Amino acid sequence: MTMRIELGERSYDVIIERGCIEKAPSLLNLERKVLIVTDEGVPKEYADLISKGSKEAHIAVLPQGEGSKNMAHLENLLCKMLQEGFTRSDCVVAVGGGMVGDIAGFAAATYMRGIDFYNVPTTLLSQADSSIGGKTAVNLGGTKNIAGAFWQPKAVLIDTETIKTLPKEQIASGMAEIIKAGMIADAELFGMTENPGSASIDEMLTRSLLVKKRVVESDEREGGLRKILNFGHTIGHGIESVTGMLHGHAVALGMTVMCSDEARARLLTALEIAGLPTEVDCDKNEVYEAMLRDKKMKDGKIDAVWVDEPGTCEIVELLPEELKKRIEML
Ligand SMILES: NC(=O)c1ccc[n+]([C@@H]2O[C@H](COP(=O)([O-])OP(=O)(O)OC[C@H]3O[C@@H](n4cnc5c(N)ncnc54)[C@H](O)[C@@H]3O)[C@@H](O)[C@H]2O)c1
Repeated sequence: MTMRIELGERSYDVIIERGCIEKAPSLLNLERKVLIVTDEGVPKEYADLISKGSKEAHIAVLPQGEGSKNMAHLENLLCKMLQEGFTRSDCVVAVGGGMVGDIAGFAAATYMRGIDFYNVPTTLLSQADSSIGGKTAVNLGGTKNIAGAFWQPKAVLIDTETIKTLPKEQIASGMAEIIKAGMIADAELFGMTENPGSASIDEMLTRSLLVKKRVVESDEREGGLRKILNFGHTIGHGIESVTGMLHGHAVALGMTVMCSDEARARLLTALEIAGLPTEVDCDKNEVYEAMLRDKKMKDGKIDAVWVDEPGTCEIVELLPEELKKRIEML
């Protein structure tokens, strides 16, 4: 199916289809210089398919892992485009997970003040979350995503076949974002995650993308509503930086302490089905400190997202001590 993200002149199509990478030459404009950015852990065949369909392809293969999302690799990508004579009419294609998507998108956003960017996400997390919305970034000085830009892709190709090579825990990590979308805005989707076999991953992924589409279309630059996508992330980011666990696993834990008892009981079932953790053994004070470093305060309070009943949510302003109590419940 094709989902149109309506953002005026920055609108674009998201194609969600098994095998759609093979159709890339007819779906994307590759009749120009194309910088394909991927990493060593992404099966090579995907970048090769894009390369074969391009008029002049240049492939940059980064070492896998979050450590590559940095200024040094960003500079290498920009230098490569400069050396190869890329102009404003050429483009960048990300082929990989959210790490590759974020740095490649930022390179596209900054080269000659912005050139076309296509995203071909190949992890469930990047398909469900980072593929749309236009957030691009690198990490700097130990802080995640601190240098970045909003730069919408020209098109997104979600080939759901690509996740067949992902390890189980990476699938679980992506499922956390799908469960999140259900919790904040789609009770029916949440119901699917509670009932194994009631829907395919493709179906759940598409529904969660519809949630993200609605939110991004009404608040492209996170002035308000888009904050609801941070459900589980306020505390989750703290857990992620202290434990080093996968993003989705930390978000899953972060969600468990930001909802009513009734919602929590149902959420725990959905998380267990997805193979996600429901408890964690770590220093809660460290999580609290890490959360404070990560979050901007407004009048001494932090915006967080609360779910009373799966399918609806609200943004609440909490004092740091209130969040500390929530962290202690982990
Ligand atoms: N821009 C956004 O809106 C947004 C949203 C959420 C997360 N993010 C960012 O996304 C990143 C996390 O994304 P991620 O979880 O995809 O991590 P990732 O990009 O590091 O990918 C995880 C691992 O999977 C491997 N991989 C990728 N595709 C594969 C495939 N098809 N088969 C087998 N292995 C494959 C990669 O080599 C990597 O080792 C973080 O940097 C996070 O900040 C961005």
